[in-house]
Amino acid sequence: MPPIPEENILSINIKTYGSFVKLPINHLAGHTVISIDVLRSSSCIVWGLVNGASKIIPVDDLGSAVSIASRMGDCVLAGERGAVLIPGFDIGNSPAEYTEARVSGKAVVISTTNGTGAICKSESASNVLIGSMLNCTAVAKRAVELGNDVILMCAGTGGEFSADDIYAAGAIASAIQTLTDAELCDLTRVSCLVYDRWKEDRTELSKTKHYKRLVSLGLESDINFCLTRDLTDIVPEYKNGVIEL
Ligand code: MLT
Repeated sequence: MPPIPEENILSINIKTYGSFVKLPINHLAGHTVISIDVLRSSSCIVWGLVNGASKIIPVDDLGSAVSIASRMGDCVLAGERGAVLIPGFDIGNSPAEYTEARVSGKAVVISTTNGTGAICKSESASNVLIGSMLNCTAVAKRAVELGNDVILMCAGTGGEFSADDIYAAGAIASAIQTLTDAELCDLTRVSCLVYDRWKEDRTELSKTKHYKRLVSLGLESDINFCLTRDLTDIVPEYKNGVIEL
């Protein structure tokens, strides 16, 4: 990736929310929100677009996802509840399902337990970027280029923070700090420490709730994939109800 021109490098504030339910939706104007649900929906969204999906439409509730998909006709209906594929849906929430053969050239309508609701809730921000480990450095760089204060919005699980999202938020916040001066809120500071401490050894991360839930469902390969850093430099953006490149 080419370096950011000197004149575009500013000091920015980075605030992290551990769960999207706490997001101050009336105060997002002038901010770049980076929406993070590293295990697994933001990783699926990034990977679907890498594999040629024309757009991704995140939908909060299942009924609306089904009706949007049936109105659209030729699209892929994706999603999960409790990390499990929804009967009648084309694919679930595993990046391994977002193959070129499945999604290339198609719109994907996706509804997940926490991640898609989080994205929809951020729509009043100046920019909403989709962040994951897969595009960690690229999303950090894009946020710095935009120059706004940054909100790292972790989807969390059931209204509570989820350590995997905090880990990814720390990776993105650390990447931002390599590019510009940044003022960090307390949770951002802690997330950077978590990332630094766990990046070489996942023992502690593997004891956390959502990680263990996915392992219990036999989805360890999804975890390994979703926690792989910088596989792509795409930065999906959510605007007017649609995520595109
Ligand atoms: C969510 O939206 O809560 C997650 O992506 C759940 C999952 O891993 O399937």
